[in-house]
Amino acid sequence: MGKGTRALFLALIAIAAAVGTAAVTLLVLREAPAPAVAGLGGAFSLTDQDGKRVTEADFRGRYMLIFFGFTNCPDVCPMTLQRIADALDVAPALKSKLTPVLVSVDPERDTPAALKSYVAAFGPEFRGLTGSPDEIAAMLKAYKVYAKKVPLDGSALGYTMDHSALIYLYGPDGAFVTAYDPALDPPALAARLQETIK
Ligand code: NI
Repeated sequence: MGKGTRALFLALIAIAAAVGTAAVTLLVLREAPAPAVAGLGGAFSLTDQDGKRVTEADFRGRYMLIFFGFTNCPDVCPMTLQRIADALDVAPALKSKLTPVLVSVDPERDTPAALKSYVAAFGPEFRGLTGSPDEIAAMLKAYKVYAKKVPLDGSALGYTMDHSALIYLYGPDGAFVTAYDPALDPPALAARLQETIK
């Protein structure tokens, strides 16, 4: 391992420990050479739940609390989004500095209209982002998020999406800040967010 590689490796281990999951380690180690953690994220060009084109620049000056999921998800996505909504109810002052965002990993089914009614159920501050399959693929790659279509035999849905379920915090400058375990209860998530967002 070179010096830079070793430093990166240690940083990744620290993040994996912080979020309490092996998923990040596995995901990043699979993709050598991995980018510096500070390089996570970056430009995107997507469509919001109102059909408006948006880029990362539209969120500058605010924290983005990003969850990557899809509206047909039976369990993890709605539970996690509800925890985020509940955390923001625990600490409503966060809403002035942070935007909770659902980025669809299922752009084929998640039209802006589908996202609009879905995110509205969690609160008016939620934004839903979708795009063409290529636009979503580009964002997932830049943000190092895993998502894969899995056929569902005998289901009217046809397929589900296997996807990583961490909650990502990006700063007002667009830089990666940290990731949270989606199983954190709302008071714990609110406390962690308040530690970081002053
Ligand atoms: Ni899900």
